[in-house]
Amino acid sequence: MQTTTQQTTQWQELDLQHHMHPFTDHVDLYQVKPQIMVRGEGVYIYDSEGQQLLDGMAGLWCVNVGYGRDEIVDAVAQQMRQLPYYNNFFKTSTPPTLELAHELSKLTPEGVNYFFFANSGSEANDTNIRLVQTYWSLLGKPEKKVLISRHNAYHGSTIAGASLTGMVAMHDIHAVPIPDIVHIANPDWYASGGTVEPQEFGVQTALALEQKILELGADNIAAFFAEPIQGAGGVIVPPASYWPEIQRICKKYDVLLVVDEVITGFGRTGQWFGSHTYSIKPDLMTLAKGLSSGYLPIAASAVGERMADVFRKKEGRFMHGYTYGGHPAAACAALKNIEIMQREHLVTQVGSDTGPYFQQQLATLLDHPWVSYVRGEGLMACVVLSPDKARRAAFAPLGFISNLVRNQCFANGLVTRAVGDGLVFSPPLTITRLQIDELVTKLRKSLDDVYRTHA
Ligand SMILES: Cc1ncc(COP(=O)(O)O)c(C=O)c1O
Repeated sequence: MQTTTQQTTQWQELDLQHHMHPFTDHVDLYQVKPQIMVRGEGVYIYDSEGQQLLDGMAGLWCVNVGYGRDEIVDAVAQQMRQLPYYNNFFKTSTPPTLELAHELSKLTPEGVNYFFFANSGSEANDTNIRLVQTYWSLLGKPEKKVLISRHNAYHGSTIAGASLTGMVAMHDIHAVPIPDIVHIANPDWYASGGTVEPQEFGVQTALALEQKILELGADNIAAFFAEPIQGAGGVIVPPASYWPEIQRICKKYDVLLVVDEVITGFGRTGQWFGSHTYSIKPDLMTLAKGLSSGYLPIAASAVGERMADVFRKKEGRFMHGYTYGGHPAAACAALKNIEIMQREHLVTQVGSDTGPYFQQQLATLLDHPWVSYVRGEGLMACVVLSPDKARRAAFAPLGFISNLVRNQCFANGLVTRAVGDGLVFSPPLTITRLQIDELVTKLRKSLDDVYRTHA
């Protein structure tokens, strides 16, 4: 696609006049001007000025099979010609939706075989709240309604999703959080572990769940919501001791375990799901993003047998649904996306080759005076910066330097995102070793560029 600087200027004008952006300070946007992305191929995207950027974020943690997959486009086009839309509301279905549910049942952990479709991760988490509450009501325990989530979790931006989210900045509006949602500590060893050994810290942090259940009464607790690895919170990788303890506690107090796999699903951690990576047996899972690699919006609540059984056997209508949930064209995109992942063995490749290589190569940055910690799993990672590594000190103000490095990365042709003092990465699963080298070289150069002017 050929574009001109004049077109760029026109698009920027339209953007500033008519387009509100998510999670954006619009005064800041006016000063820097939006960057207009026009094309993607493989792991690269191109802006309207012709700049090539290595997409170290796979869009927004989602373009797992990379850009430019014509076969997804063709599958969607064919479906749209045949039947562009039909709903699943009143005892009707469409074949792609059913085939997708069947394919998913082969990939999700054992015992998770039933799927309710939505259009975004936020919506799927809203659905999860409804499913959890309906489940306990059907079992005659409506008082079990408190949901426990964690600090720094991200579960979406609808009123309910933002309420589950544990980022205080998102609770800054009147209606959020909604009642009966509480937050406990997350297993962020770098920030909160101090001198405690990581495995010990993992157990201690998990015990915060037990304390909260005992404090509020197990009879009142409906579910615990958590990402296997917190993504938007800064790729918080839990110590190995964390998840076994969490599962023991959920089981002991009959609390449903809702595992939000919106980022960790579909190969990101080197296995199909983060639940596989940490041997988690979920009652409910949230799926989105990598489900269709972002080619079309689609999400799902994956329901485990324990809950599915109650919905299948107890009478009563589940009063919930979205017009576009399970959209046949989006389901086709997801099916083709999964077929590509399987045919190209992308999950195995991430688990046994590119994932470990990515983590190793990022760790070489630890010799940089600002790089204090590198954490990650598979193809998701965070490079944490500090002005005083020995003390794990934060920059003042928090995120000032990481944002400069983020901007410098963009200037040097690399997409990353600043989270606190960290830079997060989640490239397409198709990234090669050579492209990982390119990513790390560009990141080091950007760190050096900012260090020279701000150290
Ligand atoms: C773990 C997690 N859950 C839910 C969501 C919300 O998904 P969406 O933006 O599709 O609503 C996100 C988005 O980043 C996420 O990372």
